[in-house]
Amino acid sequence: MTRILALGDVVGPLGTDFVCKNLLTLKAQTKADLVIVNGENCTRAYNLDTQSASALFAAGADVITGGNHTMQYDQVHGMLRTNDCLLRPHNYPVAAPGKGWCIVPLNNGKRVLVINLSGQAMIEPSADNPYSCCQKILYDRKGEYDYAVCDFHAESTGEKIAFFRYFDGQIAVMFGTHTHVQTADERLLYKGSACITDLGMCGAHDSVIGSDVTAAVTRYRTATRVLNADRTEPSGDMQLCGALFEISDETGYCTAVTRICYKKG
Ligand SMILES: [Fe+2]
Repeated sequence: MTRILALGDVVGPLGTDFVCKNLLTLKAQTKADLVIVNGENCTRAYNLDTQSASALFAAGADVITGGNHTMQYDQVHGMLRTNDCLLRPHNYPVAAPGKGWCIVPLNNGKRVLVINLSGQAMIEPSADNPYSCCQKILYDRKGEYDYAVCDFHAESTGEKIAFFRYFDGQIAVMFGTHTHVQTADERLLYKGSACITDLGMCGAHDSVIGSDVTAAVTRYRTATRVLNADRTEPSGDMQLCGALFEISDETGYCTAVTRICYKKG
């Protein structure tokens, strides 16, 4: 059995600290062979810096996936180019720093291809077609991996589910990220894959998808975005959301997917 633990978008420094403090325990409890964390919102400005990425790796993340915020802070561009396990969506323009796939050799001898892609609906408009991009990665890396995993970073639930249905049987583990709201639709598909439309977020529970409640309400109610207030990080109880996927090493099929969401003060 190969177990893959995936955590949804880590939001803000407090969310990052919470994940760092709890990840080793969660990894032990779930007996995870591989830990994938979406880290595109770790900083107070809701993007990524090298300190947050290094902290997540040190805490037990094997791969950090990203999304539309990953490259907003140029301080992280060098790390995206040099660290194979720090990913951004691969279907971004080729001139963007970094790449969106890596192959991780596990202690149990299995090799896992991790792919990170962006949707095209209501998100980054310059992202290429995720289907052709994904097919090319799978084709180019054929023979180099045992199982494939995909973080499909997208806004539209329909776009995510359609992608999962198309790649059922080709990518054992598929999950969505980006909305910060966990969906309750984790399921085994028909050709051996498992999926969940969105993993949810790791951050402050008393928030608006990780943002300060007052600032978010003001922004939507008055169309006034006050940047300093907008970046006030909500505190209080933290939540950690994701999912555990179990793959049978005999069949290569995903045999179980379990949603994870716990809160702690
Ligand atoms: Fe995002």
